[in-house]
Amino acid sequence: MEYTTLGRTGLRVSVAGLGCGGPSRLGLRNSADSEAHAIGLVRQAIELGVNFLDTAEAYGTEAVVGKAIAGFDREQLVISTKKTLPQPDHPHPEAEVQRGLEQSLKRLGTDYIDVYHLHGLELKDYVFAVERLLPAMETLRGQGKIRFIGVSEGFVPDPSHQMLQRSLKEDRWDVVMVGFNMLNPSARRSVLPLTRQNHVGVLNMFAVRRALSQPEHLKRLCSEHVNKGDFPAGAFNPDAPLDFILSDGGASSLPEAAYRFCRHEPGIHVVLTGTGNPEHLKANVEAILKPSLQAPVFKRLGELFGNVEHITGN
Ligand SMILES: NC(=O)c1ccc[n+]([C@@H]2O[C@H](COP(=O)([O-])OP(=O)(O)OC[C@H]3O[C@@H](n4cnc5c(N)ncnc54)[C@H](OP(=O)(O)O)[C@@H]3O)[C@@H](O)[C@H]2O)c1
Repeated sequence: MEYTTLGRTGLRVSVAGLGCGGPSRLGLRNSADSEAHAIGLVRQAIELGVNFLDTAEAYGTEAVVGKAIAGFDREQLVISTKKTLPQPDHPHPEAEVQRGLEQSLKRLGTDYIDVYHLHGLELKDYVFAVERLLPAMETLRGQGKIRFIGVSEGFVPDPSHQMLQRSLKEDRWDVVMVGFNMLNPSARRSVLPLTRQNHVGVLNMFAVRRALSQPEHLKRLCSEHVNKGDFPAGAFNPDAPLDFILSDGGASSLPEAAYRFCRHEPGIHVVLTGTGNPEHLKANVEAILKPSLQAPVFKRLGELFGNVEHITGN
């Protein structure tokens, strides 16, 4: 494993982080996969050198992470979890943040969270979050229950990063979680220059998601966007839209290429990988440790998707 410093937090983190949400939720979304299987995946990740684990109140995986990390040295792990936003008309949003954090601590079996985020914040809730929720998080940080404060964007409703652009100009967060992938690298222009300026830690979500792991999904997505006029007719091979990556670039699969693409983006510290499959986990960690994609592939991706800011790959 390779380790890096998560911006101004100073935390030493593995460049591959385990995402315990997403479509797979450690396999718990598939009812055939048991809690024991999910615990095994978390332990497998730790044994591969992953020390960054990302979960959330909303995922239903905090308790699994808590069981998996029992017995490991807590100080060697960096635990990231997230608070679902209370509704702006909630009568006591500050108390709800505190209640949420206490519950997360209990499920995770720990007395502190390294990075506590607001989950999927959108621009419409930004002022409420800053005025009512952030002060509550700062109080919890003062009590030693949170080490650093983060925010994750809602990439699906906000694929052009409006919330992060505003919040980074105000420099309020130690860590941000941003959607970035081969199909929508717009954070390169609009988010990463701001995080680098203020040494904000950056976690990358949506590296692969569905479009880059399910060939039928990718074919459908590309043909829809060609039909809408977002790409010229003939921009893609309709049967395998990103085949040039595999034939020219030396990547053995699209997920591998997708993780490598994110890992080598300057300004990104941790690439999250979400999976319920132990073979995928092993391959994904290996991919994140491989060199960057070859220059011609990178250039072609830039020509195709460099200006995209509306696709998520979800
Ligand atoms: N707003 C937010 O705060 C937010 C939103 C989304 C995600 N997140 C965080 O970011 C993490 C990463 O996102 P993600 O979980 O969507 O992860 P991802 O790594 O981008 O994609 C995961 C999807 O790709 C598949 N996959 C992974 N490796 C594969 C491989 N080698 N071959 C084929 N398919 C593969 C997985 O299915 P298999 O199970 O079959 O491998 C799963 O469907 C989440 O787990 C969560 O922690 C945060």
